[in-house]
Amino acid sequence: MCGIVGYIGPRQAVPILMEGLARLEYRGYDSAGLALIHGGQVSVRKAKGRLDNLRSCLQDDPVQGTCGVGHTRWATHGEPSQINSHPHTDVQGSIAVVHNGIIENYESLKEYLAQCGVTFRSQTDTEVVAHLIHHLYQGDPVAAIRQAMHRMQGSYALAIVCGDTPDTLFCVRKDSPLVVGWGDGEQFLASDIPAMLPFTRDVYPLEDGEIAVLTTAGIRVLDAFGQPKDVTPQRVDWDVAAAEKGGYPHFMLKEIYEQPKAFRDTLHAYVDAQTLTIRQERMPLDAQAIRALSRVKLVACGTAYHAGMVGKALLERLAGLPAEADIASEFRYRDVQITPDDLCVVISQSGETADTLAAMRKAKQAGARVVAVTNVVGSTVSREADDVLYTLAGPEIAVASTKAYTTQLLVLSLLALHMAQARGNIDETQARALLADLLRIPEQAEQVLANRERIQRFASLHYDQHNVYYIGRGLDWALALEGSLKLKEISYTFSEAYAAGELKHGTIALIEPGTVVVALCTQPALLDKMRSNIEEVRARGARVLCVAQQGLPMDAFERWDIPQVPPEWAPVLTVLPLQLYAYYVAVAKGCDVDKPRNLAKSVTVE
Ligand code: AGP
Repeated sequence: MCGIVGYIGPRQAVPILMEGLARLEYRGYDSAGLALIHGGQVSVRKAKGRLDNLRSCLQDDPVQGTCGVGHTRWATHGEPSQINSHPHTDVQGSIAVVHNGIIENYESLKEYLAQCGVTFRSQTDTEVVAHLIHHLYQGDPVAAIRQAMHRMQGSYALAIVCGDTPDTLFCVRKDSPLVVGWGDGEQFLASDIPAMLPFTRDVYPLEDGEIAVLTTAGIRVLDAFGQPKDVTPQRVDWDVAAAEKGGYPHFMLKEIYEQPKAFRDTLHAYVDAQTLTIRQERMPLDAQAIRALSRVKLVACGTAYHAGMVGKALLERLAGLPAEADIASEFRYRDVQITPDDLCVVISQSGETADTLAAMRKAKQAGARVVAVTNVVGSTVSREADDVLYTLAGPEIAVASTKAYTTQLLVLSLLALHMAQARGNIDETQARALLADLLRIPEQAEQVLANRERIQRFASLHYDQHNVYYIGRGLDWALALEGSLKLKEISYTFSEAYAAGELKHGTIALIEPGTVVVALCTQPALLDKMRSNIEEVRARGARVLCVAQQGLPMDAFERWDIPQVPPEWAPVLTVLPLQLYAYYVAVAKGCDVDKPRNLAKSVTVE
């Protein structure tokens, strides 16, 4: 996510804005910038890369001013670059805007403004906002901002300075957080509380649709109808570390609970909810190219590989396409047969994993078309692949991947559906029904995550279990692998994942009284087989923890339900209780949840 800061008061703004941006670095970013007002002029300084680059830019070309805004950018539209970094201004440079969020209809707004004679310099959705507000401005910044809000769709936290009002800061909140803070004759704004803590602890998180107008005299809040709203400052007594986690004890838990929003952002990027269609312009390969494909190879490492296994199953089931999921470190050295009518899908949250990069280059060298699924705009896979499907999970700080993985599942689900339609395996009516179900996933995910007490209690009672087995069939086998990896990597508990039908071919010898077996039973067509496998292990004393769809009868020692959902879309929900289970076991064991021993967030070496 991007980071926003703002200041107005008697002091020079640059040091305060830079301090605030430094407090937001933990969120991840690829460029930064400031806009200040001085003598009625808006001055902008911005630089690609770390904050030090912006500091150098300010040393070379200082800027004065006691009113300004600052921004750290996490790219979603347009690669990381100086021109794409914020703030963005209108052509005259009279209004500057910094933004966190996604303007979903920016292309149609851009088209309209271009017809009005506006020329654009960047590839970003945010620049459209600056031009739109300027286009609507007729002397009253608040009126122009409100009119712009009526035209914009999507999520946005905006901070705005206007040359005509040098002693005023404006900010708006819709879906992306924004906080204002009171000082003594000075006021602050930020996308997150850590940026404010050095200056004030009296804050007010704006609500959706609200506008705040900050001057040295105070802060005026307007409600979603433009009416003045009396607000009471809230006293924040968090320390900085807690504030960076949004009040959560760990980044991992914060990111687990960010998943519904990550799902909404990702689905909005690829699905037109009005027409229940996939945005064709966002998908790789046209229908003709898809029909010419003979096979899809999905290649990745770790959790991303587990996503690839789900993608494989969905491509086979929905699109009728032969598909293989490969571990990148094996793929790169195997005599794998790749032909030009193969499609290679590389999946990587960081976009920098060495084995995955090598596998991608091998596939390209063999003439296959490569599609990258990644969470980082401008990452190496995004630059070298033929096409890119971005997950819009926002920065993932915890080493254990959660929201990046589940948004990979969503993107792969949409790719499989897109290909199924192109190959005529699914008609428009079936596709609309499946998309409608997919659009319900964010709310269903909130339901699953709301039931964490049962999971936390089970984990706290059984955290000292020495080995835990995960079993599943079909899609649930891929989820069993992911659930097992989560438990291993953050709680250091030995765990194994097995295709449930494989247990009796050896591993069942390890099951003894009290062994915890996590049985994933979300696939209706395989439920009877799973019941048999559960009986096999219960007969040997196992304590079975079952994850199943609500309403499906499954007898177990402990049961965690997910809402009813088409079996193809179950994985995104099934993994949620598994993430929480691993998290609470790790917490009970006193492990370093966000930075587990021996692990790195991105494995950039072999
Ligand atoms: C995820 O929980 C693990 N930390 C790890 O398996 C990770 O998924 C793997 O290293 C691949 O990383 P990538 O997605 O950045 O390529």
